Amino acid sequence: MKPFRLDAFVIRGGKRLRGTVRVSGSKNSALPCLFAAILSDEESVIENVPDLKDIRTAVALLGRLGRKAHFEDGRVVVKAGGRLKPEAPYDLVSRMRASVVVLGPILARLKKARVSLPGGCAIGARPVNYHLSVFRRMGAEVSVSEGYIHAKVKTWRAGRVRLDFPSVGATENALMAAVLVPGRTVLTNAAREPEIPALADCLRTMGAKIFGDGTSTIEVEGMERLSGARYRVVADRIEAGTFLTAAAITRGSVLLKDAPVDHMASTIDLFRKAGMDVRETPDGLLARWKRPLKPVSVKTEIFPGFPTDMQAQWMVLMSITPGRCRITEDIFENRFLHAQELLRMGARIDIKGNTASVEGVKQLSGCPLMVSDLRAGAALVLAGLAAKGETKVLRVYHLDRGYESMEKKLRALGADIRRVAV
Ligand code: UD1
Repeated sequence: MKPFRLDAFVIRGGKRLRGTVRVSGSKNSALPCLFAAILSDEESVIENVPDLKDIRTAVALLGRLGRKAHFEDGRVVVKAGGRLKPEAPYDLVSRMRASVVVLGPILARLKKARVSLPGGCAIGARPVNYHLSVFRRMGAEVSVSEGYIHAKVKTWRAGRVRLDFPSVGATENALMAAVLVPGRTVLTNAAREPEIPALADCLRTMGAKIFGDGTSTIEVEGMERLSGARYRVVADRIEAGTFLTAAAITRGSVLLKDAPVDHMASTIDLFRKAGMDVRETPDGLLARWKRPLKPVSVKTEIFPGFPTDMQAQWMVLMSITPGRCRITEDIFENRFLHAQELLRMGARIDIKGNTASVEGVKQLSGCPLMVSDLRAGAALVLAGLAAKGETKVLRVYHLDRGYESMEKKLRALGADIRRVAV
């Protein structure tokens, strides 16, 4: 593990972005696929994995669970053999909330698991109650003590299992257990985000029998054992959306190579409504600014609605788009932390509960900014690209968790951005 970095980005705004950027593999899709490797003793190979801090954490966690894994050139190989251990410790789980998704595969293999609670998170309480209740319904005994989730199973219960909410992580967790549960498990009220069919595809390369993924009812025929995975991670819809915003906010023209267009319908639709020229080409998704944009209100929703992970980026774009709109956050309870920083740049944003009223100003002005979480960080970088003068974005370690070579990709498109140690 590299030491904790406290780098900052220094951005001089006002450059129009032009050119081509390749969209990396999706972090949110890669993580559960890496943990799926636990479901088999054979070697697994996962490709198109982005080089991110969260991926390194996942690889380290696999190692602590007794499975040797290494990451090189966009590929994670999880070696065959090794003795799977039931405990996911606090020092790794606390670094990345998505680690809680190891609970399902460990429980499926060992019938017992001890996984640390992930701890606090800037964007809301983000409890794990949906994860715990779905395992209880599947027959597990689950308790929480001393900061750990303790789960054990005498006999799995197949049949219909309803999720309390279509949580992405809880659906992934339950799906990864169900593939080894004897009989037919039917998960209802399941998440439909593209990361779920992607995980199902990965599990199918291991021999799993899954039907209906991508809908809210997923049927799983449990197997006695699975083979290793051979899977290529899908492209990152949120990274693609972030670069689409970069094109819009700098009045530029960017070709998004490998953009997962099928996963981006609501995002593309919103940008088109605002007046961006977004079109599919044989080489990728082409986003061109042609005329001043119009404000468009939006509400975050579960898939296929507008993703919460694009809300902060949209707010920045709207904060320099003349006119008024409202942005409502319906997925997370405290996801407007970027707004405080945007106000310091001269934005006009008024927050009441889960709705932000945004009145576009002519231009933002650069100043030092502090990143609070991954997507808020992306938003602040976007703000810096459009602002007058110099913007220093502090605590970019949040961005390093989820954006591969962000500053290099932006520089290749013509942005004036550099990483400095502080
Ligand atoms: C995943 C994504 C994240 C995205 C989110 C919603 C990964 C690694 N992360 O997170 O980028 O923003 O989906 O699309 O894939 N909740 C509970 N109890 C639970 C679980 C969730 O109350 O047990 C709440 C959360 O606080 C949140 C909402 O449910 O308000 C949705 O969360 P969920 O769909 O579980 O998101 P994640 O899987 O954590």
